[in-house]
Amino acid sequence: MPENVTDHAAPQPVIRVLDVVKRFGGLAVLDGVSLEVYPGETMVIMGGSGCGKSTLLRLMIGSLFPDEGHVQMFGRNLDELDDAGLDALRLRFGILFQSGALFNSMSLGENVALPLAEHTDLDRETIEIMVKIKLEQVGLREAAERMPAQLSGGMKKRAGLARAIALDPEILFYDEPSAGLDPVTSAEIDQLIMDMAGKLGVTSVVVTHEMDSAFRIADRMAMLDAGRIIKVGRRSEFEALRDCPLTGDEETDLVRQFLRGDSEGPITARRLSTGYERDILGGAGF
Ligand SMILES: Nc1ncnc2c1ncn2[C@@H]1O[C@H](COP(=O)(O)OP(=O)(O)OP(=O)(O)O)[C@@H](O)[C@H]1O
Ligand SMILES: [Mg+2]
Repeated sequence: MPENVTDHAAPQPVIRVLDVVKRFGGLAVLDGVSLEVYPGETMVIMGGSGCGKSTLLRLMIGSLFPDEGHVQMFGRNLDELDDAGLDALRLRFGILFQSGALFNSMSLGENVALPLAEHTDLDRETIEIMVKIKLEQVGLREAAERMPAQLSGGMKKRAGLARAIALDPEILFYDEPSAGLDPVTSAEIDQLIMDMAGKLGVTSVVVTHEMDSAFRIADRMAMLDAGRIIKVGRRSEFEALRDCPLTGDEETDLVRQFLRGDSEGPITARRLSTGYERDILGGAGF
């Protein structure tokens, strides 16, 4: 077990990404990514827009499969499971999509009841009680009758979370949970993510590029860049990196620039050395 893991015991990782390569149209979006997520920890995955964060998340939940390498969840290779095996696994984790992904024709309560009705033998009264408990956990018990169109962005996120926790998952995946929310609502969602981890003991994988949020919720963090994970470590290591002077090492300074949101640094230099200048000066024509 690497020394930067949260727990002192030696638990097995619940998720293991092993040398994964994922290509779209011949281009490797992920090019040799390895990452382990341990029970009960909150792992935050960061990186610039389009660097492959959502793709990595989709590989972790088995909605995409790697071209090379493997993804394991609870010790099982996802690419070796048949449909029934994957379905059984899907009951053990929940996902909060960016939009909340609610069914618009159903009330909030019905949205949360759906997975319970589909995947359990519970009777209607029990499901109604469960729905109330889940909605209470996200602070929406009084909104059960509302339709998704009647909810604000923050409420939709909460509602999506209530649905994601309906079946008491062991792992929760979040894709940009605070994108598009005001700072206070965003902090409330962060608090919910921490509650889920703290009170329910859920393992969390959170994709975000909101640094305030990342530093609030993470136990460990991983920085994805150009198809690789260029740094993974405890939150304190990333805090130290954010607050240190420039190091002269390009990769380290790149992570530092991202964490600080600086307008100058290796990320900007790289952008300038490709793209526009080459387009203008390359003389390739149209
Ligand atoms: N199904 C797909 N087919 C083809 N290309 C894809 C597909 N999914 C993702 N990509 C490409 O892979 C790259 C990474 O996409 P991804 O959505 O994983 O990035 P991201 O880091 O989540 O970005 P953002 O921060 O904007 O959400 C992008 O260039 C995207 O266009
Ligand atoms: Mg994304």
